[in-house]
Amino acid sequence: MLVAKSVVVLAEIITRLGDEDKYLSLVARRQVAVIGYGNQGRSQALNMRDSGLRVVVGNPHDPYEKLALEDGFKVVGVSEASGLADIVFILIPDEVQPEVFERSIKPHLRENSVVVMASGYNYFYGYVKPPDYADVLLLAPRMIGWAVRELYTRGEGFPALVAVGHDHSGVAKGVMLGLAAAMGVFKRGGCAVVSSFREETLLDLLSEQTWAGALLFMFRAYYEVATELGASPEAAILELYASGELAEIAESMKNLGLFEQLRTHSRTSQYGQLTRGPGFVGEEVKDKIRGIALNILNGSFAREWALEQRTGMTVFNRLHEINREHPMELEEKKLYKILGRIG
Ligand code: NAI
Repeated sequence: MLVAKSVVVLAEIITRLGDEDKYLSLVARRQVAVIGYGNQGRSQALNMRDSGLRVVVGNPHDPYEKLALEDGFKVVGVSEASGLADIVFILIPDEVQPEVFERSIKPHLRENSVVVMASGYNYFYGYVKPPDYADVLLLAPRMIGWAVRELYTRGEGFPALVAVGHDHSGVAKGVMLGLAAAMGVFKRGGCAVVSSFREETLLDLLSEQTWAGALLFMFRAYYEVATELGASPEAAILELYASGELAEIAESMKNLGLFEQLRTHSRTSQYGQLTRGPGFVGEEVKDKIRGIALNILNGSFAREWALEQRTGMTVFNRLHEINREHPMELEEKKLYKILGRIG
């Protein structure tokens, strides 16, 4: 079991670069290749280009390539883009990165090339291994792809976890901050949290495997009990998430704070949440979270997931199938048709 540390590690949080132009000049003359033009690739490429960087897109022939061309980028294959670049952003799905990196990116890296990733996973577990003569950076927006662009165009920043994984050039941190600035991180309200590939991987996977997954199944349990007690499926689903109130609560958490947002609910609601909530989360649950964290850090979850991908995703597909068969899914489809959200 993981041993809890009593020392709180304080993060270095950068909200403004004293001399942003100095950092931008570290990257301005270098050729950037953005590999992948999907959720993150498109937004990051557009932001960096608008900040004055030279950006080429590396993408296979698919609809994303068409989009990049329509946006006015020079688009070439992944190998060619990597060969042209001093700085290579790997913005394709995590599952395909190891193979694409070995085959089409790594052979083109040179002394002081910079490899940039938006997720810690593949580098932390050693699935993507850049050579020692390249710098390795993490620039992981805590923001979904389209919003990275949307905020930039409104002159607003966003939080990003940033890290230097390997500093061969001796200027990796400066380059990292220059790229973060070009991406728009330091615009109004944004910040870079200096992190590590380990921390980013732990925090990301730990969220997914604890509260995010638990929330889905907690909603299922609520639905089952509420409908047992005579509530209509439609009313239950609206109450849980379909009304959009949940998104408003999440927005209030962001703006006011986790517990401060409670004050925007009725006092009956506040009393109910404060008295009943803690009963769901005791030491047993914390031990479970520690166990999951251990399996993330020691790589056993990553090995399990790699095996699942190699063996045809049978568990993954089966679990989706089981969940699709739940009565709540059918009721949700009916409701979403009535609401005009699906055809
Ligand atoms: P995505 O799924 O949107 O990537 C699609 C792009 O990858 C397309 O351009 C497609 O042509 C290309 N692609 C797919 N398979 C390929 C292959 N075999 N060879 C070459 N190109 C291929 O990816 P997304 O969601 O933007 O994720 C990219 C990275 O950003 C990942 O590391 C992810 O963890 C990270 N990230 C994603 C966030 C998000 O908002 N989705 C948030 C923060 C980080």
